[in-house]
Amino acid sequence: MQIAMDGPAGAGKSTIAKLVSERLGMTYIDTGAMYRAVTLKAMELGVDLEQEASFSFVADTEFAFEDGRIRMDGVDVSEAVRQTAVSNNVSLVSSYLSVREALVERQQELAAAGDVVMDGRDIGYKVLPDADFKFFLTASIEERAKRRHEDNLARGIASDIEQLKQEITRRDHLDTTREHSPLRPAADAIIVDTSDMTIAEVVDMITDKIREVE
Ligand code: DC
Repeated sequence: MQIAMDGPAGAGKSTIAKLVSERLGMTYIDTGAMYRAVTLKAMELGVDLEQEASFSFVADTEFAFEDGRIRMDGVDVSEAVRQTAVSNNVSLVSSYLSVREALVERQQELAAAGDVVMDGRDIGYKVLPDADFKFFLTASIEERAKRRHEDNLARGIASDIEQLKQEITRRDHLDTTREHSPLRPAADAIIVDTSDMTIAEVVDMITDKIREVE
């Protein structure tokens, strides 16, 4: 079984995909973490991020997911890929066609190996076009900024809500207007606006829909 979950940054995708995968006993695959891991490795190698040719190392890079955590070349990089420097460069790295092609192939292999809930931007229409279920999670910019802000405060990170709104708007623009595989829902995706829903409500709604059809 394959469940695709797409949507913009901050719509709650990863939290919800992880909870849905736990509830249904499936493997959670965070494809954004793969683009982040490639960005991290390029920074560690010290290659020029502005050059697509710098990323030939992706062909020899291994990825594995277990219990919602990501390992690259055998090392758990789940925390390292969240650093600000990685976040600031990942839009550029994920715009390169050769990087996308290499990672999409890995994602399809991971999905073929078992039951998966996969989250990203292009899963429903590109990576898993035949997925059993496709969800596209959205939320207003205000709500997404507010959630990120509360998240930052809870982690003791200084945070400015107006600045967050600007950053989210910028990322949305980059993700939806890029040439290769921009963020968009598959034609047959179920669109879920999570602005006025709690996490538990979204998880219940999604798992109910899946059980209904099953
Ligand atoms: O979900 P995230 O914020 O961790 O994703 C990081 C970046 O990777 C984001 O800028 C969009 C990109 N991405 C992508 O292009 N395709 C995917 N399937 C997943 C993420």
